[in-house]
Amino acid sequence: MTTKTGHVEVICGSMFCGKTDELIRRLRRATIARQKVQVFKPAIDGRYNLEKVTSHAGSEFDATPLNSSREIVEQLAECTTVVAIDEAQFFDDNIVNVVDELAARGLRVIVAGLDLNFKGEPFGCMPVLMARAEQVDKLQAICMVCGEPACRTQRLVNGRPARYDDPVIIVGASELYEARCRLHHEVPRD
Ligand code: TMP
Ligand code: MG
Repeated sequence: MTTKTGHVEVICGSMFCGKTDELIRRLRRATIARQKVQVFKPAIDGRYNLEKVTSHAGSEFDATPLNSSREIVEQLAECTTVVAIDEAQFFDDNIVNVVDELAARGLRVIVAGLDLNFKGEPFGCMPVLMARAEQVDKLQAICMVCGEPACRTQRLVNGRPARYDDPVIIVGASELYEARCRLHHEVPRD
């Protein structure tokens, strides 16, 4: 059964704010309601288990790793009513069209990803997805320095803040990144 009107939900925020936990919570509720869900993630993020989305807290849900956003449409089963995409910031720009197409077909699309990269700048396709979504939930982590709500992700290389001209994409977890508030987020430029 497909719902008549599809829609897009975005879950965003810094690392360690619970995006994947929230995604999994929504998917479990959909599964209890016997909705058919499919979960996709970019193959780039093989931190824990390639065939699952995994939260920092350890929750997991089966997922299909993909190399391009076009494969989402190719892999879609006819009975699916809920599509979830984790780590959306790593997908190519065409993800925006794919997400719109799925919603136009009447599907519920739940997208989770980083709104900002380590520099504190909008990350890939996320700002456009957020603008086009019906619902956006921006979660906050806790600043590792002061304990206030954190909206940014600090990248640390050998314990020092990563520089502005460092590569945007480096897969990792707490060995490289921590959540920071605006005040304690550092990006040295020279
Ligand atoms: P998470 O949102 O599930 O915690 O995972 C974010 C992933 O993105 C993690 O593998 C680290 C990576 N990442 C980058 O590649 N560049 C960045 O600027 C940031 C902040 C994270
Ligand atoms: Mg995550």
